[in-house]
Amino acid sequence: PRFLNFSRWIRTSSHKSSPLAFAFDIDGVLIRGPDALPSAKRALTLLDGHNRFGVKIPYILLTNGGGVGEHERCRKLTKLLDVNIEPSQYIQAHTVLKSVVQKYADEPVLVLGGIGDTVRKVAEGYGFKKAYTTLDVLAWDPAVWPLHKLTDAELARTKTVDFSKTPIKAIFVFHDPRNWALDIQVACDVIMSSGIIGGPYQSPSNYGSSTGVDLVFCNPDLIWRSDFDRPRLGQGAFRDAFQAVFKSLTGTTYPHVQYGKPTKPTYDFAANVLKDRLVEIHNGQITNAPAPHVYMVGDNPESDIAGANAAGWNSVLVRTGVYDPSQGPPTHIPTREVEDVEEAVRWAIDNEF
Ligand code: G3P
Ligand code: MG
Repeated sequence: PRFLNFSRWIRTSSHKSSPLAFAFDIDGVLIRGPDALPSAKRALTLLDGHNRFGVKIPYILLTNGGGVGEHERCRKLTKLLDVNIEPSQYIQAHTVLKSVVQKYADEPVLVLGGIGDTVRKVAEGYGFKKAYTTLDVLAWDPAVWPLHKLTDAELARTKTVDFSKTPIKAIFVFHDPRNWALDIQVACDVIMSSGIIGGPYQSPSNYGSSTGVDLVFCNPDLIWRSDFDRPRLGQGAFRDAFQAVFKSLTGTTYPHVQYGKPTKPTYDFAANVLKDRLVEIHNGQITNAPAPHVYMVGDNPESDIAGANAAGWNSVLVRTGVYDPSQGPPTHIPTREVEDVEEAVRWAIDNEF
């Protein structure tokens, strides 16, 4: 039998088997829009020791959501789910950028998504020292996008920057943009003019080169499940809209880096976080622990199931989110298909024996 709990695993001499651990998607699995799903609270209670073995089972949350700082989101999730969620067990779409920030720390970068300057503050918290928003650009020159006038509240959250003298090195789409038109316009301006908004257009042969502008998206989700009856457009839809407009303007799409589930960098990052989490909850008692036996519970075959399968994890698909069995089989086959996250946890625990 596999060991369900690290404290039991530690006490034994045999360190050959792997402990059980979970990775939970959030939207469509634990919550829908502003509300927690009833099965979520029951599932997390089972992991908190209220199971037939009386053991705590470690888990992380792995979401393509974001737009606010990890600590802020964990505070909100703790209240919503009525269980303590620590930042050390929480990974959102742009958390992985912590592993690349050193390359851009002192470079002017454009950060997209979220409301006002919230994402700027998240970027600065990661170590980006010159993070600017598309609202900063509009405050610099309202003619950049004549169809939107900054509200007083938006203006109050802008920085004064002369973008004619500020070459943008990279564009990071942290979270879903709120004004797609403004953000697509500014992103095209930055890329087509080699970083200087309003500057001379560069040759397409330079696109994506070392002197070009880097473009990074953090969430490929075309759709996601909120509290409307049908899935909503996600950041992947914004990416496709940008690339379609850019291609109409230049004849080509623009090379970009994609993070978020199901990409390998995000799942590699999550595997490391999960391993650190196991060490943390056992006060550093373990050093050479084998990788845990992970069950990823998700609602989106394209992001949760595809990524977990590629990572060699067990994948459990729930019917409370994006996936709709009436539309046919899932595009990526899970280890198990269940009704909701409580059934997923109960099945996984039974499956370990
Ligand atoms: O913006 C969030 C959405 O793309 C999906 O979130 O938690 O289902 O990965 P999640
Ligand atoms: Mg989801």
